[in-house]
Amino acid sequence: HLDTATVLALHGLYVFPEVDSTNAWALQQGVCGDVCLAEQQSAGRGRRGRQWQSPWGANIYLSLRWCFTPVPEHLPLLSLVTGLAVADALEDCAIHGHGLKWPNDVYYDGKKLGGILLEAVGSQAHVVIGIGLNVNMLPEAGAVIDQPWTSLQQISGQSVDRNAVVAAILQRLVRRLQDFPCLDMAQFQQDWQQRDLLQGREVQVHSGRESLQGLASGVDHCGQLRIILHDGSIKNLSSAEVSVRLG
Ligand code: BTN
Repeated sequence: HLDTATVLALHGLYVFPEVDSTNAWALQQGVCGDVCLAEQQSAGRGRRGRQWQSPWGANIYLSLRWCFTPVPEHLPLLSLVTGLAVADALEDCAIHGHGLKWPNDVYYDGKKLGGILLEAVGSQAHVVIGIGLNVNMLPEAGAVIDQPWTSLQQISGQSVDRNAVVAAILQRLVRRLQDFPCLDMAQFQQDWQQRDLLQGREVQVHSGRESLQGLASGVDHCGQLRIILHDGSIKNLSSAEVSVRLG
């Protein structure tokens, strides 16, 4: 159920019963515009070298390989922009009340619903955008996940059609990717603010052995998290440096 503009922008659609990681597949074997989906991942990758639990048939494991020429200066914003596309796609599927926890977690009611992992190929002109979304996974399935999590089925109280959600994500994502080289920064900031779960909240930021506490105050033009510290000074933090906890 993809619209024509999305179909024209994509190259191949590969659906596997099982792969190690859809991101790994897209990095190694994909070309620009390829989409890789799997029913199950044996070595799903999360951020910071963590594993992404990927049980059979319940969820969405999706990777899209996309190429930019030239590489946009604001490429670091791409993972945040991907989060916006996922959040919009969920609204298209009549799921409401979710938000984004910087840099790229999809949350609902304080629980993780999905995550995004971007990996670049060599020069960064080629990126693989990986999206993991809990769709029909239920607690009784026994997945061992080291943080509070939820799924679309738990939110909506009924089983959710994964194909419809994948189509909505691809449509929203392709449109954002096509617009990305000419990103309207003011519009981006506004879109982010609407989804930003940290905005105005007290957060604790851990960076190596250092720990800071302050008020989250949106993101800057590079996608860095802006924190107002208790002495009134402002710090901008990159996602590579820090992990964030609500204070
Ligand atoms: C995170 O740590 O929150 C990011 C998780 C990203 C998981 C997705 S599932 C599809 C794609 N393939 C992977 O191996 N990882 C990403």
